[in-house]
Order: sequence, then C-alpha cells, then structure tokens
Amino acid sequence: MVLRRIFDDEFQTAVGRLRVAGAGTEAVAPLLAALVGMVRPRRVLEVGMGYTTPFLAAALAAVQEQASAESAALAAKTRRHLAGGGDLQDSWLFGDPPLVSPEFHLSSYLPCLVAVDNLSLAGSSAGQVADVLAELHLDHLVTVVNRDLHEAVEALPAHCTPIDFAWVDAWECLYFFDHYWELINPDGGLVAMHYLLTYPEGEAVLRYLKKFQQAHPTEVEITSLLEPHKLMQNSVTLLRRTSGLVNRDHLGTAGHVRYTEALTRAAGTHARMATESSNTPAIAGSDQR
Ligand SMILES: C[S@@+](CC[C@H](N)C(=O)[O-])C[C@H]1O[C@@H](n2cnc3c(N)ncnc32)[C@H](O)[C@@H]1O
Repeated sequence: MVLRRIFDDEFQTAVGRLRVAGAGTEAVAPLLAALVGMVRPRRVLEVGMGYTTPFLAAALAAVQEQASAESAALAAKTRRHLAGGGDLQDSWLFGDPPLVSPEFHLSSYLPCLVAVDNLSLAGSSAGQVADVLAELHLDHLVTVVNRDLHEAVEALPAHCTPIDFAWVDAWECLYFFDHYWELINPDGGLVAMHYLLTYPEGEAVLRYLKKFQQAHPTEVEITSLLEPHKLMQNSVTLLRRTSGLVNRDHLGTAGHVRYTEALTRAAGTHARMATESSNTPAIAGSDQR
C-alpha cells in the first residue's frame, strides 16, 4: 500500500507533536494523503501549516517512489511487447503494471509542496512543522513560505505552478478563490477548503462559490464532505477546476481501450526515454508540465 508510512509508529509519534485539539484535522490529514495518492498532483500548495503538512509531504514522497517503480515496469513491459513485434493490445494493457498510461509517465513525477503560513495564530503548530519534516526526512519536498497569503503569490517558485492540488486551512477561502483560482490547473486541479459547512460565514462563502459555478458552469465542480459527529472544524469542500480538461479518450464502447496511434506512440516514446535514461527510475530532465 503506497500510503502505509502515515500509519507507522515513527510517523504517528512525530506528527502527534503537531496535533492541536481545535484544528480538527485528524480525519482530514489522512484524507488529503489519500487524495494525493489518487490524483498524483505534482505541484501542491498548502495554506495554513500544522498537522496536515507532513501527511501531504509523506504522500508525495510515497507517490514519487511508486511512480518511479511503475514507470520502469511500464517501460519494461512495453519493450517486451514491442520486441515481440506486436501492436499494443489487451495483453499489454493487463500485463504488470496493469492499465497504466504511458502519457502520465512521459514526464518524471517530481513533486513539490509549497506551504504558506504567516505564523499569525497563537497556538498553531505551524512553527514546529519544519523540525518534524526534517526528522521524517521529508523537508526536501517542502518549500516553506512564512508570509501572509495576501503577499505569497510572488514567493511561489515558478516550477510549482500551475497548482494541481491546494489545501486551504486559514480562514482565507474567499480570498484564495478570488486571487489564486487562476493559478489552479484548469485540467482538473483540485482545491480542498477546510470548514465551510455549519457556520454562517462559511455557508456564505459556499453560496458565493455556487453562484460563480452557475455563472461559469464549465469552470468548476463543487462538493462538500461533512463530519457529522463534530461541532466545528467539521467539513472539507472540494473544488475541481474543469475549464481546460485535456481529452483522455482512450476508451471505446463497452469499456474497451482503443489502441490509437497516439497511445502507441506515447508507449514507444516512454519506453525509449526510459532506456535512454539508463533504466534509472526517473526520466531525468523531462518537463514537469
Ligand atoms: C487552523 S491553522 C492550520 C492547521 C493545520 N492545517 C493543521 O492541520 O494543524 C491556520 C494557520 O493559518 C495561518 N494563517 C492564518 N491566516 C493566514 C494568512 N492570511 N496567511 C497565511 N497564513 C495564515 C495561521 O498562522 C495558522 O498557522
């Protein structure tokens, strides 16, 4: 299981020091890690550091390791298949690693997490995060920006935009939407906002987002998850930016993959690139976008 590390004793002991009762992210943190494991964002932004930060970083590290092994295995599978002289077909698709898209692996998975916090909240564990990341050997993945969100755009490293995944936990969801939405990847970039349900100002932000959605129906999908057993800090709202979705139409009717020229070309190119990089797991120097 790719995310097993977030459940091990060493990790739990270290992140336990960042746990703040009122932050309410004990269920959200593993959820964020699972989302990273599923959507594999390369460029991640967190606003409001603390308990959640090492979960995001650990998930990115785990996906990086998984993607690297997967890329090597995919290249080997494609090479074996092409050496047999055949076109791509179901035996290639279902061979190990099954169902994997060569297109995803045309660029190496080299993730970055930018974590923004202005250290304004007394009682927040944001100031201790760097030590915990270092202890867990995850600090190389994280750029900490100790600035106000209102002044953080210019401090975002260029290679960390467009943002594939943002986690906003700083009472700044409205500002974030108005000022950072254009930085979210239009091809399905995700924004997770903490705690908009069950209190008046949060519900007002949600109404604002839904009005935007009504006016721009192809821009955004919105859903909220409620923790019904909690009195506050009890929800996550997910926004998915959809204004520039890339067509991934490999599927034909009845769920069968169509082995198009583009798919065959991508598989061949990926296998060649992997060979040229001396079968190292990451394909060095390739473009991240
Ligand atoms: C609720 S805490 C974050 C909790 C954290 N995600 C966790 O799981 O423990 C909110 C954090 O946002 C920071 N913050 C609040 N307003 C901010 C702003 N305008 N810009 C940057 N950081 C801000 C605070 O310093 C605080 O550390």
